[in-house]
Amino acid sequence: MVLEAVKVKNLTEKELDQVLELDSLCFGGLWSLDGYKREIASPNSCLLILTINIKESEKVIGLGCFWSILEEAHLTILAIHPDFQGKSLGKLLLTKLLEKAEKKGLERATLEVGENNKKALNLYKQFGFVEAGRRKKYYKKTDEDALILWKKFI
Ligand SMILES: CC(C)(COP(=O)(O)OP(=O)(O)OC[C@H]1O[C@@H](n2cnc3c(N)ncnc32)[C@H](O)[C@@H]1OP(=O)(O)O)[C@@H](O)C(=O)NCCC(=O)NCCS
Repeated sequence: MVLEAVKVKNLTEKELDQVLELDSLCFGGLWSLDGYKREIASPNSCLLILTINIKESEKVIGLGCFWSILEEAHLTILAIHPDFQGKSLGKLLLTKLLEKAEKKGLERATLEVGENNKKALNLYKQFGFVEAGRRKKYYKKTDEDALILWKKFI
């Protein structure tokens, strides 16, 4: 797979079955079908997907989302299909989300990440996110703490 073959698009209802599958693979079911429909309809939510064409059918291999809240972009989802991880697609998707947020005139980005999620932490730190706090036992299933990260747009 070459990076040029990957398309970045806004999520529509057409891709929701695949997105639910991806959500389940990466997060064990974070948002429901109705939840995603509400996000698509919300003017404050930006949902991007990465797709590739396999045998003439489109496969969703990445999903990212941020909410615009006042002057902040709250990154709520960043997920790459397990079969496609480690190929710089996380970087591509995060770059596109941050570009969109900056274009909307937002001033900074924030997110929560599990303190043991080394892959994601490395990625965010590479993009200039810094630690700003901790939410104790944020993830109910595992009792894992979340780190709050921030990045200011210049
Ligand atoms: C986190 C995630 C989005 C990264 O996507 P990815 O496509 O695998 O990442 P990339 O290939 O773009 O790698 C980007 C950076 O992530 C870090 N990274 C990626 N794989 C890593 C690994 N196996 N070990 C340590 N760091 C790793 C590195 O800093 C890497 O940069 P480098 O290639 O210059 O070293 C992906 O692993 C994922 O979907 N995880 C499950 C869902 C999740 O936890 N999302 C984050 C919620 S906050």
